[in-house]
Formats: sequence, C-alpha cells, structure tokens
Amino acid sequence: MTRLLIANGTVVTATSSVRADVLVEAGRVARLLEPGSFPGPVSRRIDAANRLVLPGGIDVHTHLDLPVGDFSSSDDFETGTIAAAFGGTTCIVDYATQDRGERLHDALARWMRRAEGRAVIDYGFHMIVVDLTDAVERELDDLVISGVPSFKVFMAYPGRLQLDDGAIERVLRRAGRNGALTCLHAENGPAIEALIREARAAGHLAPKYHALTRPAALEADATARGIALAARAGAPLYVVHVSAGGAAEAIAGARARGQQVYGETCPQYLCLTADAYDEPGFGGAKYVMSPPLRSADDQARLWDALGAGALQVVATDHCPFLLHGQKDRGRDDFSLIPNGAPGIETRLMLLYDAGVGRGRLTLTQFVDLTATQPARLFGLYPRKGTIAPGSDADLVVWDPERAVTLGAATLHMRVDYSPYEGRTVTGAPDIVIAGGEVIVEGGRFTGRAGAGRFLPRAPRG
Ligand code: URP
Ligand code: ZN
Ligand code: ZN
Repeated sequence: MTRLLIANGTVVTATSSVRADVLVEAGRVARLLEPGSFPGPVSRRIDAANRLVLPGGIDVHTHLDLPVGDFSSSDDFETGTIAAAFGGTTCIVDYATQDRGERLHDALARWMRRAEGRAVIDYGFHMIVVDLTDAVERELDDLVISGVPSFKVFMAYPGRLQLDDGAIERVLRRAGRNGALTCLHAENGPAIEALIREARAAGHLAPKYHALTRPAALEADATARGIALAARAGAPLYVVHVSAGGAAEAIAGARARGQQVYGETCPQYLCLTADAYDEPGFGGAKYVMSPPLRSADDQARLWDALGAGALQVVATDHCPFLLHGQKDRGRDDFSLIPNGAPGIETRLMLLYDAGVGRGRLTLTQFVDLTATQPARLFGLYPRKGTIAPGSDADLVVWDPERAVTLGAATLHMRVDYSPYEGRTVTGAPDIVIAGGEVIVEGGRFTGRAGAGRFLPRAPRG
C-alpha cells in the first residue's frame, strides 16, 4: 500500500492549528500523529517544517468550457483544473447550464462529457435552471438523486438566463423539499436592462459603463427580494458572488433573524475596486464581470461580513475570456463584452495575503471559507474540506513566507491577462496533493488529465 507521511508541519483545519504529522494511506488521511512518532516504513516522506498543511481548497463557483454565443470560456476542464491545482485547489463544483427547452438530464450529460477524461482534480456540478417547465420542476428531484443537490437561478439577464420571481419561488420550494440548496444570482435584471439601454442611446459605450449600469443598490435590492422569496418558500438560500455591502448586510440581517441564508464572495470583490474600469484604452474590459467591481466602501463592508461570519464562502466565479479575440467583441459597445474574469488559480494566494497577512482573517477562518464551509454547504463534508482520518488526502503544503508576483505569463490559466498583473502576494502552495498523489511540486504539474472523478454530492439533512 502507498504510504505518504507529511512530517513536521502545522496542520490547519477550520477549528484548530496544531503541529502534527499526517499519515496518508491509499489516497485517504489515515491518522494525525505526534511529530516524529510514526515508525515507518513509508513510500514517501515530505518535510513540511515551517509550512502549513491545509485541506485542499474547494472552489464551488467555476464556469469551465462555458459556451457563450459562438465561443466558450477560455479554460476547459483540463487547463482550468491544472491552474486550480497550481493554486492549491483540489476540488471544484462547476455550473452546468440548461439550454432553453433542454431536459436537465441532457444538460448534465453535456457537462459530464466536457469534464470526463480532462479534469485533473475531483469535480461536481450545480445546475443552472433557465427554463422551468413542469417537467423540469419534477426533474429537480432526480438531479438531487444523481448527486447534483444545488441549483442556480438568475434574477439578471432577462430573455437569456433570468427566471421570474414565480419560477424562482417554485425552484426554492422544490429544493427546500428535496434537500437541495438554491444558489441565487441577485441583481435586478430588468432595472439594469433599462440603464444599459439608456447608456447605449447616450453613446456611453466604454467598458466602465458596464459597472455604471449595474449599481450596488440593484444588487442589494435583488438580494433582499431573494431572501424574502426564500423565507416564504421555507427554503435555504445561497447568494453567489456578493459584491455590494448592502447585499452582505441583507444576508447578515436574515441570518440574525434565524433564516437559513448563506453568502459567497470572491477575491476580485475583496482585492479590486471599480477604479480598475478607468484603465486606459479597452483595459477596463478585463474587469467586466457581473456583478461588477464596487467601491472601497463596499469592499470594507465585505471584509467586515467575512470577519463576522455573515458570509461563509470565498469562491472565484472563474469565467475567463481572452482579452484579444473574445472580450474585444465589445470594443465598441460594453454590453457585448462577455462577462467574467479568471481567478481559479489565485483565490487562495489573494485571500491569504489580503486576509490572513493583513490580520483580517485568522488561519482557521481562511480554511473555513475556502474549504470547510464549501464542503459542508454543498454536500462534500467530511470527505472533503478537512484533514481527519478517513477524509480524502487532498492536501496543500503551504509556505506562508513565499512571495509570488502574479502575472499572466507565469500563471497557468488559459487567458491572456491577469486582473492582478504585477501584484506581489505572500503565502503560496509548495506541494499540492489530490487523492494522496502529489500533483504539483517544485512549480511543475505532475498529475494526469482524467484523474479527477465526478463527485456525487449528498443532499442536505
Ligand atoms: O460575470 C460573470 N459572473 N460571469 C459568469 C456568470 C455568472 O453570473 O456567474
Ligand atoms: Zn452569477
Ligand atoms: Zn458565476
């Protein structure tokens, strides 16, 4: 049997930080031991002195190989998961998306084909519901049985992805009954569409108008409406990519009232502000994502919400598009720029540097936000998201002192820019282990396309 010993490190989970050796057998964590106490023999011993040993990151918000018109997001399941691994993420939950008129089973099968043979780390799927017929509503139960116990609904993008409030309430109710979690994109789509029409008519076509037509108030408003619909439906709600302070506070308020509402934010909202849209030329297009980057005040309120536990997850919404050849479709009209930005590789480094490094988060909070809560909320815990006997040996040997300068040329995502170009962060993965196999070491990928398995996830309760 293959036996790996990770010796002399500080093992960090969501609840503790202790000096311990981690013994891995047959792809799982076998035991945590007093440093130096395991007599051997082992197939390999990794010395983690002066390093942290973390549960592999879990990114529960990615869009790999997502078709948008006549092209797709620029990372597929191979390039995207390799980049994830370089950043210390060993498991993703990607968003499969229903086409109009499509059975959810068929949409899931399409996404399974995209990932199979390509993903280098384990993966699961949420399902985006865009067309809720009675038959589709019934299919939601089957999806849960097939290991997909989370659905995303949009309040934005009318005519393309948006469901009306009646349909959203039906999804919430069905999910509440079958143990699934409803993920909500909370922006007031119709109000935003009116602002976009006005901006275009006035000749305001530069990338910065993407942000100006999607104000924070219309995110806070939609978040409050989503919370009210979930309360009526008696169902849990998970609000994705929270960027506005008012949205985070609406979630905090609902939680204080005892409602099962959860919130996710992303490094881009914690580390960048709307000033980025002023980059010269077409540079602002790099940051065209929805919701858009916000003010420094919003950002401070997100950090407060994270520190206070009002937001539970930091994911990425990784949805990269090439600046040259994809985003530049909207060179003359911001509303044609594909929405999304890269982030799957940089999540842990940015959050560690800006969170732990600057004293805004403790180490245990960092692990909770990036691995444990994502696993708990999305039916992967305790197999994933912690370091305990029996859990998958998805581990990161993390160097808290290593400084890395981020840039498109050295990162591994298949995209021709980085939103963080030239930013130096401190804290980075040294060795990444998935299922007991070393997949990144010494700056080299040593894993294998197709090694990642589909993870059927458990419903709630
Ligand atoms: O701009 C974004 N976020 N694109 C991905 C789709 C979504 O809404 O999450
Ligand atoms: Zn969204
Ligand atoms: Zn998304």
